[in-house]
Amino acid sequence: MFKERCLEGRTAIVTGGGTGLGLSMALKFADLGANLVIASRSLEHVESAAERVRERGAKAIAVACDVRKFEEVEAMMDRAEEDLGSVDILVNNAAGNFLCPTEDLTPNAFATVIGIVLQGSFHCTLAAGRKMIASGKGGTMLNILTSYAWTGSGFVVPSAAAKAGVLAMTRSLAVEWAKYKIRVNGIAPGPFPTEGAWAALLPTPEMAEAAKNKIPLKRFGEHEELANLAVYLVSDYSGYITGDTVTIDGGEWLAGAGEFNQLAMADPAAVKPLIAAMRSGQKKGG
Ligand code: HXC
Ligand code: NAP
Repeated sequence: MFKERCLEGRTAIVTGGGTGLGLSMALKFADLGANLVIASRSLEHVESAAERVRERGAKAIAVACDVRKFEEVEAMMDRAEEDLGSVDILVNNAAGNFLCPTEDLTPNAFATVIGIVLQGSFHCTLAAGRKMIASGKGGTMLNILTSYAWTGSGFVVPSAAAKAGVLAMTRSLAVEWAKYKIRVNGIAPGPFPTEGAWAALLPTPEMAEAAKNKIPLKRFGEHEELANLAVYLVSDYSGYITGDTVTIDGGEWLAGAGEFNQLAMADPAAVKPLIAAMRSGQKKGG
């Protein structure tokens, strides 16, 4: 799908890159020639991911970094520049989330998710942005959101509020930092099977099956599909796109929004006669 080595010579920082979607994006970037900084709290997660990147012939450093702590984020960006030469691509992918009735949340539960997703993304954006501005070369930033950033969703209020904040930051900085040749975009995934998301949000097979049935394309996303979209958005292929967020959810959020979309989910053999009967009734009634 992409020219070989289209990310050659670039350094990409992927937060939460040791697991799940972050790891899939990091491996794809490495296959296309990027050098990687893999960062998250657990050294075990990031070291094993960095090893997998190196096995593919790219340079990689593993950094234990809690994105809630700005000094750790700044130190990570310094290391990226010292060891790999530059900071060209930032993927704000690290997240924390859980299902909880809002009336049962504690202030610290809310602050924890906001701290990882909203403040953490801001910390990385600020530290990477300063390097990109100082270099004079600019760079690309990609924020991993979710469609409930704009619809909202019950039971994940801290995450919805945090992702909505990151969406606003995406649009704001696309304009403010365009003069520094920095592009800022987002991806809004629907459900993609990962250990982290499934443990936090869809822990039983019944919940996973119900989630799948809500999706018009009747399947979950594949990591390769999201990783390809990420490459497109961080590379020169998308050079004229900034401030946008691309949804990749098999039609899920729109299906929940349209007034009569439940008819699309039902068996056409039942729906068509019902609609035909309504039409003939309408004619009879004049
Ligand atoms: C209610 C909870 C809770 C839960 C923790 N808390 N889990 N409250 N329900 N299930 C509360 C705690 O009681 C505490 O508040 C506060 O949150 C902090 O908890 P800690 O365990 O100390 O936090 P920490 O060790 O920093 O861990 C952060 C975490 C954890 C977010 C709670 O789950 C985590 O590390 N997650 C990372 C991986 C992850 O979540 N991945 C999923 C991303 S999926 P008190 O007041 O008691 O001190 C995703 C998909 C979105 O985002 C869309 C899908 C379609
Ligand atoms: P995941 O594997 O649990 O990813 C979350 C990552 O964040 C982990 O690698 C975790 O690593 C890291 N992390 C958590 N707190 C951190 C902190 N304070 N500092 C640094 N790193 C931290 O789940 P995922 O499904 O791949 O999610 C990846 C992204 O996709 C998230 O932004 C999520 O909201 C988004 N998303 C996922 C789905 C889905 O269905 N999978 C849908 C919509 C959006 P450590 O534990 O090592 O810190």
